[in-house]
Amino acid sequence: CTGKVTLLLKNLLVLTVATKQTEGFQRFRRSAQFFNYKVQVLGLDEEWKGGDDKKPAGGGQKVRLLKSALKQYVDKEDLIILFIESYDVLFASGPTELLKKFKQAKSKVVFSAENYIYPDRKLEAKYPQVRDGKRFLGSGGFIGYASNLKKLVEEWKGQDDDSDQLFYTNVFLDPEKRVGCVIGLSGCLLMRHELTQGVDAKKLSCPIMCNMVNCLLQLQLNYLGNYIPQIWTFETGCTVCDEGLRSLTGFKDEALPMILIGIFIEQPTPFLSQFFLRLRNLRYPKQRIQLFIHNHEQHHLMQVDSFVKEHGKEYLAVKVIGPDDEVENAEARNLGMDLCRKDPGCDYYFSLDAEIVLKNTETLRILIEQNKLVIAPLVSRHEKLWSNFWGALSPDGYYARSEDYVDIVQRRRVGLWNVPYISSVYLVKAKVLRSELDQGDLFHSGKLDTDMAFCHNVRNQGVFMYLTNRHQFGHILSLENYQTTHLHNDLWQIFSNPEDWREKYIHENYTAALKGKLVEMPCPDVYWFPIFTDIACDELVEEMEHYGQWSTGDNTDSRIQGGYENVPTIDIHMNQIGFEREWYKFLLDYIAPITEKLYPGYYTKTQFELAFVVRYKPDEQPSLVPHHDASTFTINIALNRVGTDYEGGGCRFLRYNCSIRAPRKGWTLMHPGRLTHYHEGLPTTKGTRYIAVSFLDP
Ligand SMILES: *[C@@H]1O[C@H](CO)[C@@H](O)[C@H](O)[C@H]1NC(C)=O
Ligand SMILES: *[C@@H]1O[C@H](CO)[C@@H](O)[C@H](O)[C@H]1NC(C)=O
Repeated sequence: CTGKVTLLLKNLLVLTVATKQTEGFQRFRRSAQFFNYKVQVLGLDEEWKGGDDKKPAGGGQKVRLLKSALKQYVDKEDLIILFIESYDVLFASGPTELLKKFKQAKSKVVFSAENYIYPDRKLEAKYPQVRDGKRFLGSGGFIGYASNLKKLVEEWKGQDDDSDQLFYTNVFLDPEKRVGCVIGLSGCLLMRHELTQGVDAKKLSCPIMCNMVNCLLQLQLNYLGNYIPQIWTFETGCTVCDEGLRSLTGFKDEALPMILIGIFIEQPTPFLSQFFLRLRNLRYPKQRIQLFIHNHEQHHLMQVDSFVKEHGKEYLAVKVIGPDDEVENAEARNLGMDLCRKDPGCDYYFSLDAEIVLKNTETLRILIEQNKLVIAPLVSRHEKLWSNFWGALSPDGYYARSEDYVDIVQRRRVGLWNVPYISSVYLVKAKVLRSELDQGDLFHSGKLDTDMAFCHNVRNQGVFMYLTNRHQFGHILSLENYQTTHLHNDLWQIFSNPEDWREKYIHENYTAALKGKLVEMPCPDVYWFPIFTDIACDELVEEMEHYGQWSTGDNTDSRIQGGYENVPTIDIHMNQIGFEREWYKFLLDYIAPITEKLYPGYYTKTQFELAFVVRYKPDEQPSLVPHHDASTFTINIALNRVGTDYEGGGCRFLRYNCSIRAPRKGWTLMHPGRLTHYHEGLPTTKGTRYIAVSFLDP
């Protein structure tokens, strides 16, 4: 028995048509090499006239090429030929397995079978019924003796763009011809890897397919270090990526590839100044970077302007398209890409949306080194499954969850993945923009959204999109609750984007303070530690001044009559600017934990009725008479800098005859409110001093 199979093996030849050596074709060939299939490629570098995706049928060119290739094998009696597509197919098992299945099918020619009838649905009634398995012929792959195949295609007189599928279907449905050629169908012939249609392994009923999946899984375990085939839609394991790596180490700055970065601000987006800061911090010479910025939002005009004014000159070139240019999303993306495509000096196009928080400063280098035509770094929402890629497509081209989606997002499986959809941040080789992707309009396709249209078009050109999660790159902002009604809207983002809020507003040494380091005690039981960044202080002050309705400081103020404030100050309360909820969250997240550390045994929910910013000026209200606070404990955050912004100021605790005369910007005092810590505000003698005060647990 084995002897017979060996004999057959020697006589097995794979024929495939590939006019272009697409990435899909290269993958096909790698898998063929892996299993030792003998492959002959037909039509290489010939012009493809077999139809395109705009025409439903087509493929006749393949029949013509097969017919003419078979001429050379007329007298090879026992030659078995597998005729198979290559752009979206890979081998999942070896020739022995294939021949075994061929024999089991007990026909001289065996076609792969499909669940759907195509292209002529009217022929359905003519199809024989099947008890289980698939009923309809698929021309994507068939196997048979050379002589029978020759007979099969003998009558082909069609055009290159006629349907091959219809031709074979008609032969199959003609009982006389079918018997003449001895055609059978088998759904289990081969595994088809249909990237564009996102075949879901679990939905495939054919048991042999499932065996193949198992076989692949085994391969992955056993053959690390060699070529690893893809499981369904993924390229797994790092051996694959290593083979094509392109190292940038040792390159002089001026020899590095030139990158055009397309930046897209398509909707109101928080933390945009941080975005520009990170852009500047990318480790890549700015003289090798051109910027194309599309800002769709009036709201962001100032931030974009100030970035371009202050830093535009550092870059090789900067082009801005603003809201008044009235360029829509897809059109803007086409423009950006086209700038790179048409510039012979441009080596890479890097598309970056404003809601992407790219923390890894090495991102550009890492992506270039992967040496792929199109590659995205994985980014996802903080601790969420929402990310910038899809692992699979539903049959209608929308999102489908792939088996390992979660593992990839959470980086439990790390590698370079071939995926059907990427968005928001990706690198494209300019070379491919000038070849496969040279059509000017990549961002439209029917009614598809811009991002989906792009991926659809890239897939259609046989270009693979890769995703790497081999490094941490960053995350995606939530845009859902971004209000634009304030001066500094980011302050309100503590709920929606807490990590980004923390990074922007919480002092870098707060964590040390929380561990008890850097906390000072300038007066008995008065603690002093860093809490806010300079930006937090500045924005809070500006927000208050922007609001502008400072209390008058006399007792006509209703809040004071209500008896909350022991002594009136010139102030604006957090609730007046609609910041109460956010302030409470800040107190709970950042003040409560440190309070409990510093005053052990005291537990706080940081409740407050009074939280406000006080303004001291020599000619307005320079100081505050001695008083107790209406609180269990009080925090008092200095919002500006003594010496530069004002002179004098500070706080004196009378019982201890102890003063803090040089408050530090961004640092807070924390002290008990009643009974012991009777205190006064020392006079501000010049400039304006601001503090943020909260009476906690009144
Ligand atoms: C944080 O603490 C370190 C060490 O004391 C100090 O060098 C650094 O300047 C501090 N950072 C800021 C922003 O004050
Ligand atoms: C309070 O302290 C200052 C110096 O810090 C000192 O000159 C003054 O005598 C002290 N007053 C009392 C009542 O101890």
